[in-house]
Amino acid sequence: MNHNEPEIIKEVLQRIKPDTREKQKMHEVADHIISLVNNVAVGLGLTDISGILVGSAARGTWISGEHDLDIFITFPEDTSEEDLKNVGLRIAREVADDADGYEERYAEHPYIHAYFSDFEVDLVPCFRVGSAARIKSAVDRTPFHNQFVRSRIKGHEDDVLLLKQFMKGAGVYGSDLRTGGFSGYLAELLIIHCGSFREVLGSADGWKPGTIIDIMEHGNKQHNDPLMVVDPTDPARNVAAALTLDRFAGFIDRAREYLDSPTVEGFFIDMPAPLSDTEFDTITAKRGTFLVGVIFDKPDVVDDVLYPQLFMLHNSITDLLSRHTFSVMNGDVWAGSREAAVVLEMEVQHLPPVKKHAGPPVWEKIHAGSFKQKYLHNKGLSEVYIENGRYVVDVWRKYTDAADLLRNELHTCRLGKHVGESIKLGFKVLQDRELIDIDHQSFREFLTGFFHRNGDQ
Ligand code: UTP
Ligand code: MN
Ligand code: MN
Repeated sequence: MNHNEPEIIKEVLQRIKPDTREKQKMHEVADHIISLVNNVAVGLGLTDISGILVGSAARGTWISGEHDLDIFITFPEDTSEEDLKNVGLRIAREVADDADGYEERYAEHPYIHAYFSDFEVDLVPCFRVGSAARIKSAVDRTPFHNQFVRSRIKGHEDDVLLLKQFMKGAGVYGSDLRTGGFSGYLAELLIIHCGSFREVLGSADGWKPGTIIDIMEHGNKQHNDPLMVVDPTDPARNVAAALTLDRFAGFIDRAREYLDSPTVEGFFIDMPAPLSDTEFDTITAKRGTFLVGVIFDKPDVVDDVLYPQLFMLHNSITDLLSRHTFSVMNGDVWAGSREAAVVLEMEVQHLPPVKKHAGPPVWEKIHAGSFKQKYLHNKGLSEVYIENGRYVVDVWRKYTDAADLLRNELHTCRLGKHVGESIKLGFKVLQDRELIDIDHQSFREFLTGFFHRNGDQ
């Protein structure tokens, strides 16, 4: 073990571990809201509905400064879906009338996200089912997660805090669809399985895609995910289902770095500095590539709906360009407050007017015959010739400019619902220096990340 490590751990914990006052405050607010839930339910004549605290606040595994309370409104198992939705929402709204503000959000079912002073509170209706195998919707699992973690996490809370913070520093914390990383529950299970923060990193050092962690030895081994962590409370479920290959690999990479030489900085993300005009010019001159961005109005939907559609747009654009033999080196998506964009870095902007068009092998008589017939009077570039036994002909390329191709053919791409609607209303294709017309701070930070720079390379 690196001799500095105990010092590092101590310093990190000092920054992330809630003190007694903060904990007390958290529990006061939680208790207050839970009694509101119970009172509202009783006021409606419903005595078998109760509020419970779940999530990291209930398990002592929340990071100081983060005031996220997960309060579930639990209904008896035989409640109808309709009642759960309507009555659940009614109770949640009435509770939230006491808050500083709230909004309705949608997962599988609607729920309320409320602000009580500096606390963000999710008020989520769910069924109180007999076992996690009988859940009616995904949120019904949460109370079981709560029981499982609480029964095993005692004494390891600091390890969970360290692991969550380490994952944040590595940019891999969060099971939302934008991040595609590790959820809080997954971090807790890894600690329960491996024993400590350091042992999780040691384990990750040896992970390969296909790794299976099965704490209760349920024996469910069917999956195609990079990491399978069988849910101890529901064997059919992979707790790491949202984890993408690159977040999986990113965690392994950072774990190794830490095992080699631990630092406090490794736990905390440095926000990328916004890229200045001069830096942009220097970098692009050095790289000599072609940059192109497709920018449009950001649809007004939550990130879990937006990002999968942005990723899909990115893939569709890359496919469109490759079909026309423009090769894409790098690409990423960005969303600001009002606009969203896909940015690509390409080897070239222009391809020559001529393009080779391959036909069938000469011995495939029928196909060969019609190919030759079709290009008999090919205007201009070549006659039909033979290469490796196939007919080939040189034809005119439809698009010689990648930006033109995007302007004219983007509408033919497969697009998600909301992004598709926005693009139909209009989009711009910006090239090279035009990109820095997008003068938002967050876009400039995005560009710094885009070129994988952190400092003075
Ligand atoms: P949260 O996203 O609030 O996570 O979900 P958390 O465990 O409280 O962690 P932090 O500290 O806020 O980041 C609340 C609960 O919902 C379930 C888990 O049981 C979690 O504890 N959940 C959430 C999942 O099972 N999977 C998810 O992807 C997200
Ligand atoms: Mn939470
Ligand atoms: Mn939450």
